[in-house]
Amino acid sequence: MNKSQIILGIETSCDETAISIIQDNESGIPKILSNIVSSQFDIHKEFGGVVPELAARSHVEKINLIAKKALDESGLTLDKISAVATTSGPGLTICLSVGLNFGKSLASSLNIPFIGVNHLEGHALSPKLHTNISYPYLLLLISGGHSQFLSVNGLGSYKRLGTTIDDALGEAFDKTAKLLGIEFPGGPKLEKFAEKGNPNKFDLPKPIINKGGCNLSFAGLKTAILRITRTIKNEQEKFDLAASFQKTIEEIIYIKTKKAFKEFKEIISTNNNNFVVAGGVAANKGIRNKIFKVSKENNFNPIFPELSLCGDNAAMIAMVGLEKLKVNQFDRLDLPVSPRLPLDKNAKFLKGAGVVFD
Ligand code: KG4
Ligand code: ZN
Repeated sequence: MNKSQIILGIETSCDETAISIIQDNESGIPKILSNIVSSQFDIHKEFGGVVPELAARSHVEKINLIAKKALDESGLTLDKISAVATTSGPGLTICLSVGLNFGKSLASSLNIPFIGVNHLEGHALSPKLHTNISYPYLLLLISGGHSQFLSVNGLGSYKRLGTTIDDALGEAFDKTAKLLGIEFPGGPKLEKFAEKGNPNKFDLPKPIINKGGCNLSFAGLKTAILRITRTIKNEQEKFDLAASFQKTIEEIIYIKTKKAFKEFKEIISTNNNNFVVAGGVAANKGIRNKIFKVSKENNFNPIFPELSLCGDNAAMIAMVGLEKLKVNQFDRLDLPVSPRLPLDKNAKFLKGAGVVFD
């Protein structure tokens, strides 16, 4: 394959309008020529969460400008682009449609391949933008909508080992932050808040910690937090609650990761002990430290995306696009939006009150 393949990636699955251009490189680690991410925090702040219609409208308003910025920053002209890769799911349908239609039109007008990308696979491959990692590897994906342990066996080949049976970890951070009166988006700010508190002040539950393998559950924690916030008397107690929450999450991740290591080793025969931790919550320093500890103790090699690549971005979408281009995996221009696109298509649905572990 021509080594200078250049991919333009597009991401609009939620509240970030992002376009990036990356170039393949002989080292195996592509060069990020531009990576523009435009967040919509100010638009959604007053509602305390993402409003899909407003998010989609903002994508429509900004996508041309962001594309121009990405192109200008890369120093390239459109005729140098080899393929267009766009998130096709999972995410908000009306948001995904904006990026998908833009990407299809661009690819069609340039007469180059169009590649639909699973947003979660973007997170899964995000550390490949700065590190050489070979398959298979263990993945912990912790974002605003998903929390899963997966064995990544190859491009497009995933086996889920564990998943949250209720809230995603990022969602738990965001909801706890909201209950503590922290402004949207609260997840990243909660960690700072926690630094001022006593992590041992409140004893919080760790749902399904001794059962359900490496499956996860965070909804009970949120309910406990809600109950405690009603009794809180001063600002210090808020800091203490945030610190207790952060500590409890770190302990849950520590214990469940140990279980995931064991399951990964049982199903995959490999000397490869790489452990990728990706998604927005992978930016959390306390969680990173716990992952380093548990990995060292169990002989795994933890790999995180660079901080700027933990949250939603289009460089990770272009990364998947590049791998797909190398094996000629293209999509037709009638590829639909897939708001519920899983990584492991064979994994059982594990959500809600009906899920019971022995
Ligand atoms: O991967 P991402 O940008 O979007 C999704 O695909 O969902 O993840 C966003 C999530 C949000 O819930 C946000 O609060 C959380 O990641 N997050 C954090 C931190 N930074 C982002 N949660 C805890 N600590 C952080 N430092
Ligand atoms: Zn994401």
